[in-house]
Amino acid sequence: MRSHYCGDLRSSHDGETVTLCGWVHRRRDHGGVIFLDLRDRAGLVQVVFDPDTGAAFELADRVRGEYVLRVEGRVRMRDEAVRNGRMVTGDIEVLGKSLEILNTSETPPFELDEFSGAGEEVRLKYRYLDLRRANVLENFRVRSRLTHAVRNYLEEHGFMDVETPILTRATPEGARDYLVPSRTHPGSFFAMPQSPQLFKQLLMVAGFDRYYQIAKCFRDEDLRADRQPEFTQIDIEASFVDEEAIMGIAEGMVRRVFKDLLGIEFGAVPQMTFAEAMKRFGSDKPDLRIPLELIDIADLMEGVEFKVFAGPAKDPKGRVAALKVPKGAELSRSQIDEYTRFVGIYGARGLAYIKVNDLSAGAEGLQSPILKFLTEEAISGILARTGAANGDLIFFGADKAKVVNEALGALRVRLGHDLGLLEADWAPLWVVDFPMFEENDDGSWAALHHPFTMPKCTPEELAANPGAALSKAYDLVLNGTELGGGSIRIFNPAMQRAVFKALGISDEEAAEKFGFLLDALKFGAPPHGGLAFGLDRMVMLMTGSDSIRDVIAFPKTQTAACLMTHAPSPVDNRQLREVGIQVRKADADKA
Ligand code: AMO
Ligand code: AMP
Repeated sequence: MRSHYCGDLRSSHDGETVTLCGWVHRRRDHGGVIFLDLRDRAGLVQVVFDPDTGAAFELADRVRGEYVLRVEGRVRMRDEAVRNGRMVTGDIEVLGKSLEILNTSETPPFELDEFSGAGEEVRLKYRYLDLRRANVLENFRVRSRLTHAVRNYLEEHGFMDVETPILTRATPEGARDYLVPSRTHPGSFFAMPQSPQLFKQLLMVAGFDRYYQIAKCFRDEDLRADRQPEFTQIDIEASFVDEEAIMGIAEGMVRRVFKDLLGIEFGAVPQMTFAEAMKRFGSDKPDLRIPLELIDIADLMEGVEFKVFAGPAKDPKGRVAALKVPKGAELSRSQIDEYTRFVGIYGARGLAYIKVNDLSAGAEGLQSPILKFLTEEAISGILARTGAANGDLIFFGADKAKVVNEALGALRVRLGHDLGLLEADWAPLWVVDFPMFEENDDGSWAALHHPFTMPKCTPEELAANPGAALSKAYDLVLNGTELGGGSIRIFNPAMQRAVFKALGISDEEAAEKFGFLLDALKFGAPPHGGLAFGLDRMVMLMTGSDSIRDVIAFPKTQTAACLMTHAPSPVDNRQLREVGIQVRKADADKA
């Protein structure tokens, strides 16, 4: 139907007759001449209809925004004075000769320009219109080029694309499962995969050696700006590899896509242990663009009268830390109050601070609500350890280490953005030496990665002291976002049983849930490992999008619903009976 895309026309087409198909982006009437901006996937071009074109002119007079047209015309240079430098096709225009209205359109519920001020709700309801906007479309171009580059890289490195089932058994990755009832086995359910983890390990047992998949994963968890219930992983697994080999392959892939798509060269990605990341940044995904660091001061606070500090200082699970903000003394009382509210979200019960106005003036030169509770010795210890200078402000967190890390870790990032402290555009980092387990509130253990991760110790050492065990796991962090993670896997049944045992999973439960994996490990499983990247997150970072929803064509809301199709939706009783399910009335009323 068309000879060219609208957005591809340039001065080199001057004089050519072209046929274009697209949507009316804008229509203007200038003293008897009609201008249409016609839009297609490639962009916009201006089409002009003079009154002397007769029928075409009359039709052009009738079209409205978002009508679908087929236009034939001749490309011509615009007069010097009316060239539009902001449009890539702005040097030329098309003089329309004939026009066919292929379809009409109602007035769209919001403007389809770059800066749509429309709320996300209406944009998601009419997502197919939102996707017509040029800057939204651009995200999907990047996404497509990214998957293409990833496939090329992995195929070049001998990886084989294999699909794994969507209707399967639960794969524990720390979230709730989406369940699918079985009609042929009433009362039984499939679980949608939280990741292809177990299948990719079984492919290694099968001898496939190098596997990849651009895989849909499903997790019923609390949603945030960088989480969706249904998302895509670049999933990778290889046999006869150690951590360095897998990390090298993965890092090479990330380097390649950033170079190909954005022209950005990362140097070698630095590595940091989990323990160091938590100590210095209060986070296992530190944003290294921000130069602020947490500084431990518990040893200085053990003896002070101030219980808020002395308590956590003496508690083995406590932490007392300082965060120095250069030039922070300029922060106003209301800004500090706002930061105090902010750390409250993470459970902090306050945010003590010292403003350093004049070091030479002793206590007189400091301004703080806690000075009166601290000894001179403690104060000079804090000033020396933080290296505070005149004009700085020091924030404090004192609580269980988990609370202090989360609160000051988040405050550090917030301050970095608020005060414009970012020192680089991109800061990638490998975090390594994760603990195997983290302690639940009830004292039981949960896998920090997943229970198939290889510990760095023997099964006996693991059993003796699960809290001290480190794992052969690694995460790739970019600008404070966890882009991907993985591990070397357990490949013998004894170690796998030891991990299940530490997690409180009995032999019977392990056999019932993961018997197929334990069986497979008995039949010559090779040493293997891998990792998975969040594809959506990668595109989000590469396009500078604020939300993962901007890079998913048909995303779900914060409450895991689709505003366009109204999924999830009730089903009729006949369908429910077929799968042997009865909905409890109280639950249905709640929804
Ligand atoms: P993990 O659970 O760390 O590892 O997931 C890997 C990566 O997937 C992305 N991701 C998400 N993206 C969007 N929405 C979500 N809800 C979401 N959850 C995770 C993140 C994360 O780094 N099987 C292991 C990998 C392995 O060990 O090989 C796994 O799934 O970017
Ligand atoms: P209070 O004695 O509770 O009025 O607290 C005195 C100062 O210490 C105030 O600035 C509080 O914001 C701060 N503060 C209270 N609890 C904590 C805490 N757990 N960590 C850091 N600062 C705190």
